Amino acid sequence: MPPKPANVTAIYPGSFDPITNGHLDLVQRGSRMFDTLIVAILRNDSKQPLFSVEERMDMLREVVYPYRNVQVDCFDGLLVDYAAERSAAVLLRGIRAISDYEYELQMALMNRRLRPEIETVFMMSNEAYSFISSRLVKEVFGLGGNISGLVPPSVEARLQSRMAKTK
Ligand code: PNS
Repeated sequence: MPPKPANVTAIYPGSFDPITNGHLDLVQRGSRMFDTLIVAILRNDSKQPLFSVEERMDMLREVVYPYRNVQVDCFDGLLVDYAAERSAAVLLRGIRAISDYEYELQMALMNRRLRPEIETVFMMSNEAYSFISSRLVKEVFGLGGNISGLVPPSVEARLQSRMAKTK
């Protein structure tokens, strides 16, 4: 095992389509734990995203600017290879409920098998946000439900203009 690096960089990977207040809470807490936190969007996602990678990066940048040690990036291919490229020792993931655990455990163990020197760190979601997902936010918003308090206001505005365009 390599010794603990003087500066620990963590990657917080995901789809962020779009970023929710649950994600943002993790960014805020992660920024206090690690020297550098890189929020990284997967580029070659098989899911059909509502927002392009560039739009999602813009939305992320708009909300993480208060955290000086947080960067926004995107990646292709294997997450662990990207983490190694960025000299990151940690992958940060949030767990909302037990239902998240099985998928997260599988990913963490696969990632450990691929690159044992990179640790996955799980943080429990803030209970106020544990029911929020990007998928549900989009569904509720698309059906006319109120999503204020679930996503940052700038994201709500983007959703509004995206839905207006698609009508
Ligand atoms: O927000 P999501 O969709 O739950 O994030 C999933 C993500 C991006 C973390 C995961 O799909 C991923 O790491 N993809 C990159 C490809 C990869 O490394 N696959 C093997 C993971 S064990």
